[in-house]
Amino acid sequence: MLILGIESSCDETAASIVRDGREIISSVISTQIEEHKKYGGVVPEIASRRHCENILGVTRKALADAQLTLADVDAVAVTYAPGLIGALLVGVNFAKGLATASGKPLVPVHHIAGHIATNYLTHTELEPPYLSLVASGGHSHIIEVQSYTKFKVIGRTHDDAAGECFDKCARAMGFPYPGGVHIDNAAQSGDRTKFKLPHPTVAGSEFDFSFSGLKTSVINMLHNAEQKGVEIDRNDLSASIQSTISEILTDKTMLAAEALGYKKVALAGGVSANSGVRAALSEACQKRGFEFYMPEKKLCGDNAAMIASQGFYNFKAGITADESLNAVATLSMEDI
Ligand code: KG4
Ligand code: ZN
Repeated sequence: MLILGIESSCDETAASIVRDGREIISSVISTQIEEHKKYGGVVPEIASRRHCENILGVTRKALADAQLTLADVDAVAVTYAPGLIGALLVGVNFAKGLATASGKPLVPVHHIAGHIATNYLTHTELEPPYLSLVASGGHSHIIEVQSYTKFKVIGRTHDDAAGECFDKCARAMGFPYPGGVHIDNAAQSGDRTKFKLPHPTVAGSEFDFSFSGLKTSVINMLHNAEQKGVEIDRNDLSASIQSTISEILTDKTMLAAEALGYKKVALAGGVSANSGVRAALSEACQKRGFEFYMPEKKLCGDNAAMIASQGFYNFKAGITADESLNAVATLSMEDI
């Protein structure tokens, strides 16, 4: 079965064709990063306008690369939540038009479920149930993947997401947006023991995250150093931030896996591209004899192959939408 996936929830316009949820036939991503960089973050209205301009061309290319036409696909899957509302609306309306014009079913996909599906594309043997950490620019969740379409969120962030923490610390250090990857690069030649950073916990919620205290402590440290005219080594600070975020994410995920009896653990979301997070979680799983799955690097960030993959499983489970499908800016995975 061939699914055409469409993604437009943030600053990537993407379309992809995936066979049976597991095999990428084509994947096209048009990123707007260069434009948003000027403003230090994503400007929602600009994002919507660029999606509007690019979505047809990106979809045409995904079909052409796959040497297929719309008539060959079995369903059109689209990200309808969560994300920037104007950005989501472009994708939802476009997919609705495609589905209606071609008489194909329309399949709604939750963006985080899409990130989780990146591991189905990378590891063809992976099947639920398992525990997945999803860390991105907007979310940090520990999720029980009970089946391909049933999820239970057992840990979440109370303030900033892990990717947001990377990006805000990076900005304070003078790196361009999005800063996560710059911290990752700088950390390669830094000493992570040079700075002791806090590991904020959330009282009464052992699987939940809080990253704002870590961010504030980095910003304060940089301000204090600037006032005193002291130079802070960006490589060392990057290495310290990266190892602290990696430890926090890994410790909570291991705690949850042990408490709930999961021996199969996965990592997904934009932050899954981070070398420190990949190594820390992989090592912790290996130490406990857990199976560990992470997406190949090119699938970590937003793409439409993950939407087509999850779209396949949704479609098989009978999850389709009618012409009244709307975009939703905030939606828990448990309410899909
Ligand atoms: O999943 P994603 O592409 O978009 C959202 O759904 O949010 O995630 C983007 C986030 C950004 O915060 C970005 O800085 C972060 O993922 N990220 C990284 C790395 N690559 C991307 N963070 C740390 N290290 C990286 N190598
Ligand atoms: Zn994402």
